Formats: sequence, C-alpha cells, structure tokens
Amino acid sequence: MSDRLFIFDTTLRDGEQVPGCQLNTVEKIEVAKALESLGVDVIEAGFPVSSPGDFNSVVEISKAVTWPTICALTRAVENDIRVAADALRYAKHPRIHTGIGTSDSHIRYKFNSTREEILERAVKAVAYAKRFVEDVQFYAEDAGRTDNEYLARVVEAVIRAGATVINIPDTTGYCLPAEFGAKIKYLIDHVDGIDRVTIATHCHNDLGMATANTVSGIINGARQAEVTINGIGERAGNTALEEVVMTFRSHRELGIDTNINSTRITSVSRMVSSLMNMPVQPNKAIVGRNAFAHSSGIHQDGVLKNRESYEIIDPKEVGIDENSIVLTARSGRAALKHRLHVLGCDLTSEQLDKAYEAFLALADRKKEINDDDVLMLAGQHRKASSRIKLDFLQVTSGVGVHSVASVGLDIAGEKFEACASGNGPVDAALSAIKNIIRRKMLLKEFLIQAINKGSNDVGKVHMTVEHDGVSYHGFSANTDIVAASAEAFIDAINKFVH
Ligand code: KIV
Ligand code: ZN
Repeated sequence: MSDRLFIFDTTLRDGEQVPGCQLNTVEKIEVAKALESLGVDVIEAGFPVSSPGDFNSVVEISKAVTWPTICALTRAVENDIRVAADALRYAKHPRIHTGIGTSDSHIRYKFNSTREEILERAVKAVAYAKRFVEDVQFYAEDAGRTDNEYLARVVEAVIRAGATVINIPDTTGYCLPAEFGAKIKYLIDHVDGIDRVTIATHCHNDLGMATANTVSGIINGARQAEVTINGIGERAGNTALEEVVMTFRSHRELGIDTNINSTRITSVSRMVSSLMNMPVQPNKAIVGRNAFAHSSGIHQDGVLKNRESYEIIDPKEVGIDENSIVLTARSGRAALKHRLHVLGCDLTSEQLDKAYEAFLALADRKKEINDDDVLMLAGQHRKASSRIKLDFLQVTSGVGVHSVASVGLDIAGEKFEACASGNGPVDAALSAIKNIIRRKMLLKEFLIQAINKGSNDVGKVHMTVEHDGVSYHGFSANTDIVAASAEAFIDAINKFVH
C-alpha cells in the first residue's frame, strides 16, 4: 500500500493572482468542479477579505463542490479570519489557512517587528481560527529563507494552539532541493507534536526548481503538496500539479501516491489554460503540446517498436487519446454535448445551442474538430455578453502592396465603421479598431499559436493591452488569424471600456 499524498490545489488563489488571469465566479465554479472530478483533496478557493468577488467565489464554490475540503486564505488578522469563516459557511469540509512571514527579512521589513512578537501573532491567529473551524492550516511565509531553529519554535507553538496542517512555503523560489528536503526533515526531527499534523510544501518556481523542491520535501516526510494546474502563478509560477502527480506515479518505488484521476489531467489543463488566458509552453512537462511528440526518426522508430524505449508515461495515462473521436460537420448536437461532458464542460441548453452553431460554422471551414477546438467553442459563450463585438472585417494585403483593413464594430447595439492601413494585415485591422475606440492603449504582448498542426487549423491569439497603466488580456481563436487577432484585441478592450 502506498502512502497517501494529499493534493492541495491553489489555482484559484495563488494561480489567480497573476495579472490578466482573473476569473469571474461562474468560471471559478467551472474550474472547481473540474478539480473535484480530477480528485484533488483540497481546493484553495480564494482570499475572502481581499475583495467582494473573492468572498463570493468562496461562498459559491463551497456550495458547488462536495468532496474536497474548501480552504480560504487569511493573514494573521482577526478580521480576515472572521470574514473567511463567514465565506466558508456552506463548505462541507471547511479549512482556514492563516499565517505570517517568519523570515528575518519579513519580520524586519514587512512587519517592523521581532521574532517573539511574530511567534505570538501566529499563535493568536491559529487559536482564533480554531473558534470557527476544526481544520486550521498555518503558513510560515518565506519559510524557505527562515532560520530552521526559529521556524521549528513557531511550528511547535502553532501546533499547540491547534493547527492541523503546517505549510512550509518557499515563497521566493530560493531553495535548493536538498536544502528544502532537509528543512522538512529538521522539523520532523525537532518539533514536538509534528506527528499529529500534516506537513505541506508550497514551492514557487523562480529558479525552475518548484517541482524538484516539492518532491524533495515529500520524500523527506511532507504529505500535502500545494500546486496549481499547469504551474500557473505569480512570476515564474507555482509547482505544477501534473508534474508532482506523475512523478510519484512514475516512481512507484517511492511508495507514495495521490487520489488524482490522471486521465483527466490533459482536459483540466486545457480548460484552465483557455479560461485563464494562459498559454501552455509547447515543451511543458506532461501537458505541453510536444510532451509526447517524437519528431526524430530514431525516436519514432523506437516508440513504434516498444513505447517504453523513449516514453516513461503512456500518453493515455494523462488523458491523451490519439484515437479520440473527432467530430465533423455531420456530428449532431448530442455528439458535441457528449464530447463537452467528457472534457468536463456541462453547458446549459442555451449555451449548447450557441456552441453548436459555432461548431457547425467551424466544421464548414475545418474538416475535423478535435478536443482543443471543442474546448475553444465551449469558451465562446462567455463572450456573448460583451459590449463591443466585431461586426465585419475586410483586409487587403499581400507582397508589394500596402495592407488596408476596414472594420465594423457593434458597440452596445450601435454600428461603427473605420478604415486604416498598416505594415501588415493585423496592424491595419488593429489600427482600424483603434480609430473607432479612440482610447489611449498600448499593445504589450501578442502571441499566435496553432491549436494543432495543419494549415487549415484554428489559430489561438493571446494579447495584452495596456490602458491607464493596467494590463488587460484578450483571447480569441479562429481559422483566420487576422480575425482572431482583431477579436482578441476587442476582448481585451471590452475589459476596460464600459
Ligand atoms: O507563497 C506563499 O508564501 C503563499 C502563502 C500565502 C501560502 O502563497
Ligand atoms: Zn504562494
């Protein structure tokens, strides 16, 4: 029997802190349900005191999911804890996650305080949270750079105050794997009562070592891994759920396993990527487009003769089914509904009607509709209520001629048209849109990706547009990449033009 490793997913809290990745409550519920079907043990649903939106998301996610523990983050502040407890009132298994910075740098510069005062605040916060819920998790922020002896004193004191889970974050992603593992072992060897609690790892990826540090922490005795889907998170991100889960599945000799249904990993990864406007890098472990693609002839030959020659994971284990049903223009509404359900998207009848209409239009231009296309179509219903919509787009471009675009926009029911020229079709189309919108804005990032490989493929466009010093992300997908670019630009603009 394997030792159980608990998976604590913080995609909706730490992951969602990334600028441009914000989800509305309905989208967060969609992700939370997908996480439940994936088999995560704990969902960190938000930081309720930070905004009414976060508070509401914790309330609604608590109602929507059944099995996972729902966790809400707080600072070591009584009002934060009261608000979190209120937001968790519908959770079947509530957990409050409270804590404070323990490194000397945090104590001196963030709190202008002393080690003794911080220890006292940590204990008070845990004891206060215990008044509301039984399950209280404590985090020692910047534990990665905290002196081990002092960290052990803090951990021992909060366990005495009633903490059930102790989270050891490497907040700045500074630690080396051996060092982080040794920190966990130090706590196990030096803290009275540590055997009564679960130790958690929470690693950031600033030096590209988040997964290595997490695995090292677990090998040394931690039994909860704090992770996000696709490793999304601030700066270089958090530990990726899929990497930790598949590391322990691949290394059975370690005798540690999770409750994760790995065959759902790919679909949840794609859902989060498309909802959060965060493309997955093609060579990303486990979920990148190239993770199982063998392009060298020698490797292809080896894999055909015996998969294990060059592959340590069967792609089917993570839900990549090369033979998965491909939909075509002849597929009915029921086939689309079934495929969406398999991919974890249950749309209302009205949303399904819209998705099916878009499906037929796409199937007209592209013979085979695959899972990525289906997820992209499912996402389009979210745009239905946008104030600004692309009415028409006509572009003339080519070699040796100037590109010219004429664009029609529908803004809250009123029609506007404009023309512009540019150094290419996309430049011309965006300039024509700017001629209608007439707000100061700057295109900061522009990424075009093909979903699969053929020239008839759907192109996905991600954009970041800056307005008044704030970045707004836009996304669209279309077989016409100039149209996808115009739509992504409008998607970003919709976020600041009200
Ligand atoms: O990185 C970190 O330290 C955190 C804590 C708030 C848990 O996210
Ligand atoms: Zn974090």
